[in-house]
Amino acid sequence: MMPLPLKVGLAGLGTVGAAVLQLLERQHDALIARCGRPIEVVAVSARDRAKGRDIDLRKVRWVGDPVVLAADPGIDVFVELIGGEGNPAKTAVEAALAAGKSVVTANKALLARHGLALAGQAEHTGGSLHFEAAVAGGIPIVKTLREGLVGNAFSRVYGILNGTCNYILTRMQQEDLSFVDCLRDAQRLGYAEADPAFDIEGHDTAQKLAILASLAFGIAADPEAIYVEGIASITPEDLKAADELGYRVKLLGVAVKTEQGIEQRVHPTMVPKTSAIAQVMGVTNAIAIDAEAVHEIMLQGPGAGGMATASAVVSDLGDVARGLRMPPFGSPAARLAKSGKLPMQRHEGGYYIRLLAVDRPGTAATIARLLADEHISLESIVQRRPGRAPHGGDDPASAAAPVPVILITYATTEDAVRRALAAVEAAGVVADKPQLIRIEKT
Ligand SMILES: NC(=O)c1ccc[n+]([C@@H]2O[C@H](COP(=O)([O-])OP(=O)(O)OC[C@H]3O[C@@H](n4cnc5c(N)ncnc54)[C@H](OP(=O)(O)O)[C@@H]3O)[C@@H](O)[C@H]2O)c1
Repeated sequence: MMPLPLKVGLAGLGTVGAAVLQLLERQHDALIARCGRPIEVVAVSARDRAKGRDIDLRKVRWVGDPVVLAADPGIDVFVELIGGEGNPAKTAVEAALAAGKSVVTANKALLARHGLALAGQAEHTGGSLHFEAAVAGGIPIVKTLREGLVGNAFSRVYGILNGTCNYILTRMQQEDLSFVDCLRDAQRLGYAEADPAFDIEGHDTAQKLAILASLAFGIAADPEAIYVEGIASITPEDLKAADELGYRVKLLGVAVKTEQGIEQRVHPTMVPKTSAIAQVMGVTNAIAIDAEAVHEIMLQGPGAGGMATASAVVSDLGDVARGLRMPPFGSPAARLAKSGKLPMQRHEGGYYIRLLAVDRPGTAATIARLLADEHISLESIVQRRPGRAPHGGDDPASAAAPVPVILITYATTEDAVRRALAAVEAAGVVADKPQLIRIEKT
């Protein structure tokens, strides 16, 4: 006799929702074998019923309001694929949990902001909350941290969590193109939103990092506790200089255990060219984990796209079908500690500094002295020529042009670097605001 199916109510029939319907159809028999029962979508909801869709909705009920669908007695599990931290996604998830149902969502914005409260509600009502698809699309990072590595203490989790930014930085580096040109191409190819600010300013990465930090370190997800800096200031010169010095630049989300607490930060980061994360190109995502027992693990794969994300949603549905239930963030909600924002001035590490030094006797000595005053030691200094005449000799017009100087520091504090650069600017020995990129040990 066929066991009872898991009855799914699916809200959101966009890129991910439509792919989930298709994948469940395609894998129907395999899922029965693997999960012990059929997984069947019985009702759906979206904004516009009349919209043309490439999916067959003849066998499913249409429910106009996703909040009504969420509490529908005819479903066992509510899948929220609408998106956004506000309503109707939030009210719908709350309604499903209040009705004691399981919820599967891909909504990073909702989880980063309200994950703690929703996890608490799920524990209280006997429902369950699953969100494998919310971080890095098809990469099973949530289960890796929460289940696969449950016996490990984590010291650091870091990753490339935004495909748009990695696509832009990859093209800038490989083709010597400007940030603006690469962004325009990303938009043309559908990798970047019409309003790309959320991606390129680092906020999308921060929402995902908040969830990863919660899973790894037992803290409440909180995007406000994260220092965030985007990639718009990165120039082709930086990428060229990084390459010559043996580095690549990636937008990383990093959560690391320090003596002061969990430092969470998102910013352009220089990583050694030879490291695994430096090889991750284009829209691909990757997450590296430093953990006590396994030392290092890196997962790499598609961070977005309908089918890849549907793979993660279906994985959660498989858990619900099997009756697996656990605290959504690993530890019970009441045990997730509030994490304050650690001041970035206390960050310790190496730095890449690009200065446009004025071509005047004594400039180099002044810069060296001001750095030494802050006890900053330099690992390398590269001075570039300001320009060359077409015949190969020095360009007379550039004789007095400012000279680009690249400095790589040994580990120091952000505070010291900021103070030193403020002093360098005040001394009038640079013609432009210094560029600063943090270096991550990998
Ligand atoms: N796309 C990805 O690659 C990806 C990857 C990882 C995670 N995610 C997450 O997955 C979720 C869905 O993303 P998506 O790309 O599939 O979005 P999408 O293509 O924009 O689809 C959103 C769906 O939600 C429906 N919707 C919007 N507002 C609604 C409302 N007020 N009431 C009822 N339905 C409403 C839309 O209805 P209509 O179709 O009628 O307009 C549409 O079907 C988001 O949380 C996103 O962050 C997406």
